[in-house]
Amino acid sequence: MDAERFVWMNGKMTTGEHAKVPILSHSFSRGSAIFESLGVHDSPEGPKAFRLDKHIARLEHSAALLGMEMRCCSKEIEEAVSQTVRANNVGRGLIKIMAYWGHEAVVDLVPQVPLDVAVFAIPNGGELHLDDPSPISTCLSKWRKLHPSTVPVEAKAVGNYLNGYLARKDALDRGFDIGLLQDEDGFVAEGSTESVFLVKDGMLLTPPLGGILSGVSRMTILEVVPHLKIPILEQEIRVDDLRSADEIFTAHSGVKVHPVCRFEDHELLAPGPITKRLLEAIDDIIFFRDDRFPHFFQAL
Ligand SMILES: Cc1ncc(COP(=O)(O)O)c(C=O)c1O
Repeated sequence: MDAERFVWMNGKMTTGEHAKVPILSHSFSRGSAIFESLGVHDSPEGPKAFRLDKHIARLEHSAALLGMEMRCCSKEIEEAVSQTVRANNVGRGLIKIMAYWGHEAVVDLVPQVPLDVAVFAIPNGGELHLDDPSPISTCLSKWRKLHPSTVPVEAKAVGNYLNGYLARKDALDRGFDIGLLQDEDGFVAEGSTESVFLVKDGMLLTPPLGGILSGVSRMTILEVVPHLKIPILEQEIRVDDLRSADEIFTAHSGVKVHPVCRFEDHELLAPGPITKRLLEAIDDIIFFRDDRFPHFFQAL
């Protein structure tokens, strides 16, 4: 973290050097923080956030699912995002909104205070490789997706990411880029930090909501594909469907459409024809060549 970077914390602008919590804070020691990551795009009129309303709504939904309250309302968070992006002079980059119990809580498991909120704006480059659609290889993770009866998997909560960490580590150890997790019933759920799509006989398929995070890229793709006359179905997917897919891609906020060149030993054209059309369509939207989706962007 750049010590000089401006960070918005609970209504005040500070610097990265001071944007810290104690190791014994609830959110660090119990993994209770919730968060959002979203893109900021460099439009001809200045920086614009991609689907900020949807990300803030998901953050609020995460808090509600976990019985938490935030000390800021959506309007304050929107304003904080705008101030942070401008203070850091970020063009293309990533916004990270964290909501957390930042006070020391040694034994208190259920704090009765609202969550603190911090907003970061990180420029593309360095650790971030936004918009890089280089094909990726995928494998079937040995780990199963957390079951929704154990924790609400639709909450974007830090604690849930140990599951994602294990799936990614297992994939990397086996020489793949990412691992895809099955749910407890054997259906394909998602990747560690990505939604999954496949193409079979001209039809685009993606797992239904219920046991996965409601990805903002996923909902964006569902909204865009009808304009391309690509048929899409939200339906349960089996591992055999991945093994026989014509195309596979993943989606997350950093790289909206990420072609998959391999699933286990099944080689795939990446991008295949449908993935390519979608990739180009999304590129046109995020690079402001297609103005049919103005509601995707919020000027900052
Ligand atoms: C588990 C999981 N699924 C899917 C996604 C994709 O969501 P989004 O498109 O909102 O980035 C993410 C993003 O981090 C994720 O962590």
